[in-house]
Amino acid sequence: MRIYLDHNATTPVRPSVAEAMSGILRAEFGNPSSVYEEGALARARVEAARSELARLLAIEPRSIRWTGGATEANNTLLFGLLSPGDHVVTTEIEHPSVAAPLALLESRGVEVTRIAPDETGCVAAETVLGAVRSDTRLVSVIWANNETGSLQPVADIVDGCRARGVMTHSDATQAVGKAVIDLASVPLDFLSTSAHKLGGPKGVGALIVRGDPKLPAYLHGGGQEYGLRGGTENVAGIVGFGEACVLAREELADRLVRHGELRDRLWAGLQKRIDGLRWNGDRDRQLSNTLNVEFEGLAGEVLVQALDVEGIAVSAGAACHSGSIEPSKILLAMGRTSEQARASIRLSVGWGVDESQVDRVAEVLGTLVPRIRAAEAP
Ligand SMILES: Cc1ncc(COP(=O)(O)O)c(C=O)c1O
Repeated sequence: MRIYLDHNATTPVRPSVAEAMSGILRAEFGNPSSVYEEGALARARVEAARSELARLLAIEPRSIRWTGGATEANNTLLFGLLSPGDHVVTTEIEHPSVAAPLALLESRGVEVTRIAPDETGCVAAETVLGAVRSDTRLVSVIWANNETGSLQPVADIVDGCRARGVMTHSDATQAVGKAVIDLASVPLDFLSTSAHKLGGPKGVGALIVRGDPKLPAYLHGGGQEYGLRGGTENVAGIVGFGEACVLAREELADRLVRHGELRDRLWAGLQKRIDGLRWNGDRDRQLSNTLNVEFEGLAGEVLVQALDVEGIAVSAGAACHSGSIEPSKILLAMGRTSEQARASIRLSVGWGVDESQVDRVAEVLGTLVPRIRAAEAP
């Protein structure tokens, strides 16, 4: 049996999610835009899922626009909202699906200010707000970083931006289902999320759009999703996302505790066996499921491969854009050297992980790390 400790890359589809989706795929093929019974049933399914995501985030269902994932949600917002001459404030710890569109927009005349994190991976709200100008159109700050799990002070940033009349966005892809997100008390204008990080299917997500900011269509076509995204809805995927939201609402409090126990047990197991470790983060200001560790003096990608051979899946950097052995930009932004960043791996727990699995991972690492260090020693 393999051990999967890469829940920040993606999560196993929960059985009740697969069941709900399979019911649609097998028996309910209607197009939600059709006016007869089959269409009405499909529409009802899509809207029921919208209500579930709305309940999870404490927002109005009509502020949800289904997308093909968080990358699409981020691109829809940034390309829709920003024009040459606009100023945007963001951070150095954004996921590439925010960082890359902003870099492209910058080359087209949007001015971008990027705020650096501290050594634990968090930005300070005052620094973000201090960069806001009279011509700032948007402040976009990730809710929880995918590599370290660091939680950003989104509520304080939103408060300060509202006082200055500036719109706010957060890529909350890692946070939804793993952290408390109560948008009734955090009046963000835009938020991005993705089903596959919380036990749902890949290829479906949402952009939350509050108020009436007049975003232009991202996909031109049949006018679905309040005119923002033409194209027949991914009904089965959306239904799966809805079920994943039901589970998240029911389980969130337990998840926070359970993930934290497993993560801390893993850290204790590593500390007992291995020296030269550093936790890249801050236990009190990060997702409870994530442990990003530097193993002084070795190459993370070698460790990842050695663990894979032992039946253990973890990540060196972010899996969504892995395949390269470039040191993590996030860890560099946190002040690590290239060697320190390369020596770091991410272990992230979630549904299906138990004590015996994290104990086994600590034990295997306890054997592998000294062996690899010895082999790599000059
Ligand atoms: C913070 C963050 N934003 C966006 C994405 C992209 O999500 P999707 O795979 O749904 O496009 C990811 C995926 O790893 C992520 O972690």
